[in-house]
Amino acid sequence: MIRLEGLCKSFTVKGTKKQVLKNISFECRDSEVFGLLGPNGAGKTTTLRTIATLIRPDSGRVEVDDYDVVKHGRQVRNRIGFLTGDMKLTGHLSCRDMLEYFGELNHLDKETVSRRIAELAKQMEMEDYLDKQIAKLSAGMAQKTSIAVSILHDPHVIVFDEPTSNLDVMAVKVVSDFLHEAKQAGKCIVLSTHILSEAERLCDRVGIMHQGELLCSGVPAQLYEKYQVSNLEDLFFSLVNHKEVSA
Ligand SMILES: Nc1ncnc2c1ncn2[C@@H]1O[C@H](COP(=O)(O)OP(=O)(O)OP(=O)(O)O)[C@@H](O)[C@H]1O
Ligand SMILES: [Mg+2]
Repeated sequence: MIRLEGLCKSFTVKGTKKQVLKNISFECRDSEVFGLLGPNGAGKTTTLRTIATLIRPDSGRVEVDDYDVVKHGRQVRNRIGFLTGDMKLTGHLSCRDMLEYFGELNHLDKETVSRRIAELAKQMEMEDYLDKQIAKLSAGMAQKTSIAVSILHDPHVIVFDEPTSNLDVMAVKVVSDFLHEAKQAGKCIVLSTHILSEAERLCDRVGIMHQGELLCSGVPAQLYEKYQVSNLEDLFFSLVNHKEVSA
């Protein structure tokens, strides 16, 4: 379970302070996929980085399985699998070497690492290129390898920042199926995307972010009814237009 209450964060760039997260509150429960949606610069990555303990909140509370991200960073990191676009894998190591290396970093024993590599390679359809050098992989293959690295330790909480960027339709399906299975297995999953059709298919609940604010969150069908729209795109434009009119 992930719980955010009144999360605020500012960055100061060249002496100018900008508030990039304004009082963000939402929950992502176990056995649920929560989609954080919004345009470029909305604050999605900053929110996810805060959940993953990489950024300290200015104010508000962020908890992962009841552990506070500021006070109990280590416990949070043990429970979490975090995928971000910042983590670009490259170099002469093969996928398998890279996974083994991360297994050691996570203090997993060799047997567990071999079992997890076999499981993930099958689930993510990576078997054909497990022993290929990462530098020689396509962008999509490298992205699937990054996903596998982030969840090698089989975390209970999965935080994926744009997991399907760079992926073709077949690879998107592999990742979507993986997330669906993870949900069925009781995991708590939060992801960000700007691909609204993907969110519609995959997410049990969504939150729409814009300029650092969470404009709404809930079950898509209930939000459609509340705002009198029929899809996420219309919901987004309806909320943004309403905000601009009332600002
Ligand atoms: N480390 C930082 N220092 C200063 N400003 C930052 C930093 N990280 C993010 N920002 C700013 O915070 C705002 C939100 O950025 P963020 O990366 O969270 O957006 P996003 O919703 O993930 O966008 P995208 O869809 O482009 O990935 C942007 O204005 C960005 O420039
Ligand atoms: Mg981002």
